Amino acid sequence: MAKLCVIGTGYVGLVTGTCFADLGHRVTCLDIDENRINMLKNGLMPIYEPGLKQIVDQNVEAGRLDFTTSYPEALKGSEFAFIAVGTPSSEDGEADMQYVKSAATSIAKNLDHPTIIVNKSTVPVGTGDWVAEIIHDLNGQVTPKFSVVSNPEFLREGSAVNDFMKPDRVVLGSTDLQAANKVAELYEALRTEIMITDLRTAEMIKYASNAFLATRISFINEMANICETLGADVREVARGMGLDRRIGPAFLDAGLGWGGSCFPKDVKALAHMAVTHDTHPQLLQAVMDINLNQRRHAVNKLDKALGGLQGRTIGVLGLSFKPNTDDTRHSPSLDIIKMLLAEGAVVQAYDPQAMKASKAVVPALELCQNPYEVAQDADALLLATEWNEFKFLDFDQIKTNMRGKVILDGRNIWDGEELQRKGFLYFGMGIPGSK
Ligand SMILES: NC(=O)c1ccc[n+]([C@@H]2O[C@H](COP(=O)([O-])OP(=O)(O)OC[C@H]3O[C@@H](n4cnc5c(N)ncnc54)[C@H](O)[C@@H]3O)[C@@H](O)[C@H]2O)c1
Repeated sequence: MAKLCVIGTGYVGLVTGTCFADLGHRVTCLDIDENRINMLKNGLMPIYEPGLKQIVDQNVEAGRLDFTTSYPEALKGSEFAFIAVGTPSSEDGEADMQYVKSAATSIAKNLDHPTIIVNKSTVPVGTGDWVAEIIHDLNGQVTPKFSVVSNPEFLREGSAVNDFMKPDRVVLGSTDLQAANKVAELYEALRTEIMITDLRTAEMIKYASNAFLATRISFINEMANICETLGADVREVARGMGLDRRIGPAFLDAGLGWGGSCFPKDVKALAHMAVTHDTHPQLLQAVMDINLNQRRHAVNKLDKALGGLQGRTIGVLGLSFKPNTDDTRHSPSLDIIKMLLAEGAVVQAYDPQAMKASKAVVPALELCQNPYEVAQDADALLLATEWNEFKFLDFDQIKTNMRGKVILDGRNIWDGEELQRKGFLYFGMGIPGSK
């Protein structure tokens, strides 16, 4: 059993802290957001993540997990300090490091015993060395012994607990092998492949992994657009490709493209790092362009199917950037809604978890209580996020409620032929007849 603290209680920090507590460690989770910490102290969840609340409750009750806004309290007796704060994009695409800097500075000011600082945030290559400098600069000769270990996180929102508990691998990077081995011990119970490498390589593995996954999605979306013009079916193309073991089936679903708090900022930050070091990231640039174009492509399809968007009512199912999360950061759905509104359409939408966050970003959005209300008097229905509850709808009821009959299945989850038989004008992404 180890004593550790986790700084930042967002999707990564709260899951990490809770899961380490569940593995038997003693964990204090810290955040500077008082509201967030008060919610957690009162048994309320600041984020929606399936299965997380139950494990938080169990571990709080068992006395292994608590929450604070105080750095001295969190660091007291902690052998490990995990940094899991946000690293959003700044204007030019560079990762905004203000939260990491502030966390490292707060650790430095309160460091009074040997500590291993573990960086879980996705950070530009070289950040581990920079964090070490911050701590040295603030403490000078009297710095207690400390080491920095990079431990990039690969969990996915929506299945974060499972991903943490059953990872494909744990990556650790450090110049201090002993410190990396100590962090490895924390993960031993997970019985997974633990890779230890140097700091910069570990940081780069995270960016390269996200960029590769984003590339696969942009690739299949480009194929989808070509399929549409040639009369081929991208779903079958992806299946045929995925059966090749060298390719595999994952991340080959054509649709509206990727979003969220990770891929957009990470691909951008990697491209920015490349440019600032005189390398031309031409593939990454194309991957980002294809992704954003896919949103415009969906709007154009609706425009064409409806003969113009001005004054039309579009019902949108799904607002979060993907199912099983309330996260709307860089959500394709919200971007498409903004474009539709800009073209003079009225948009009414429903999402199982992301309505409040979406309304805050797009105030003109009209919120509905369920998919059938979304369909009410709509000229077209757009499936933007493939929540399970949208997979099997009563389309007879939807047809009765709608004014028009256009359906754009932005994630290819419905049976288009069946919907056409019911009298809808069905369009998918990369499906014959969907141009
Ligand atoms: N969300 C994901 O699916 C995911 C997956 C892998 C990696 N990551 C990476 O992990 C990091 C965290 O992502 P997230 O989605 O959990 O972020 P988030 O925005 O959900 O949470 C970050 C939290 O850090 C807190 N914070 C900011 N500055 C702080 C400080 N100085 N001290 C203490 N707390 C502070 C914020 O108040 C917030 O609660 C990012 O670098 C992200 O790229 C995220």
